[in-house]
Amino acid sequence: MLKPVIMAGGSGTRLWPLSRGNYPKQFLALAGNNSMLQQTLQRLEGLEHQAPLVICNEEHRFLAAEQIRQLGLKDSAIVLEPFGRNTAPAVALAAIQAMQADGDATLLVMAADHVFADVKALQEVINQAEQLAETGAMVTFGITPTQAETGYGYIQQGSAVSHGGFKVARFVEKPNAELAAEYLDAGDYLWNSGIFVFKASRYLEELQQYRPDIYQACQAAMQQQTPDLDFIRIDEAAFANCPSESIDYAVMEKTDAAVVIPLSAGWNDVGGFAALWQILDKDDNGNVCRGDVVCQSTRNSLIHSSDKLVATVGVEDLVIVNTKDAVLVAHKDQTQQVKNIVEALKAED
Ligand code: GDD
Ligand code: MG
Repeated sequence: MLKPVIMAGGSGTRLWPLSRGNYPKQFLALAGNNSMLQQTLQRLEGLEHQAPLVICNEEHRFLAAEQIRQLGLKDSAIVLEPFGRNTAPAVALAAIQAMQADGDATLLVMAADHVFADVKALQEVINQAEQLAETGAMVTFGITPTQAETGYGYIQQGSAVSHGGFKVARFVEKPNAELAAEYLDAGDYLWNSGIFVFKASRYLEELQQYRPDIYQACQAAMQQQTPDLDFIRIDEAAFANCPSESIDYAVMEKTDAAVVIPLSAGWNDVGGFAALWQILDKDDNGNVCRGDVVCQSTRNSLIHSSDKLVATVGVEDLVIVNTKDAVLVAHKDQTQQVKNIVEALKAED
């Protein structure tokens, strides 16, 4: 039976000032009434699975615990990282924990920052992936690319295997703009959706082969864990030695066992305000207005206020986010750069 692992330790800086260090995007209700984390967990309904494991930063333990409690989920565990070391270590900690608790399980590793329009279609490919994982495959799901986006992994589709899967001929994480355009033109590349299915033991074997440094640091950190209510605390000193790397660079680019299943389920990774505008309901002028907002002759904009009244006249393609202590005004086509502002602000601190 599948063991869901939800990676919820990212910082979501491209959605600042909605997403904050102490309240990052996966804990926000960006689309609908539930948070991205809660929606991720709800996507499991109808799938046969074991109790989920959430892995996030220590700082967000009560947010995570409360949001899981609100869904009435019992038996789920939360692994706490004292600091983020990116997703390769996060998945390793989860895999070690799963093996300690229940023996070798098939992990369904999900990001906590995606939306899906068609959950049924997602669940179908997850079921196929579970069977492929039994054969030792490291399964990813591929989305048909629509633009030369540089924030995603690119997967070249190879020959067909069983259960709707294809060998991964090549996996390139976050290529530069030139390469991304090349892959888009080539027509046989898919975007990596950021969801994976594999046996816990298989992932650990691959990690040990390609990144023994990460493998060893994670094993050491888990050997001295301290359970505390539903939380699993790892050894901080051991984890401090762990290099920071994503699963995509550390394992998926290198493994020979990668298999991709094409996925068409209305996937969106809500990677920035332009993506958020795209997935939300718009008025007749193409505006998304939330909170105390008045718009005149305004088009195709996202305007959010959780503080003072915001009024706009004669503007288009803008993102305006007004919060208690920060206001963002950006062109909708350039909202990827918002993360540079967060970095600049951090450097000033
Ligand atoms: N526990 C934990 N610890 N979770 C983390 C950490 C960490 O240090 N860093 C990131 N995460 C979580 C994020 O909260 C998110 O849910 C997920 O892991 C993916 O991390 P991102 O930082 O959002 O990755 P990305 O979007 O840049 O790239 C990944 O996703 C793309 C699709 O959205 C890659 O897998 C790409 O290949 C993929 O195309
Ligand atoms: Mg992401």
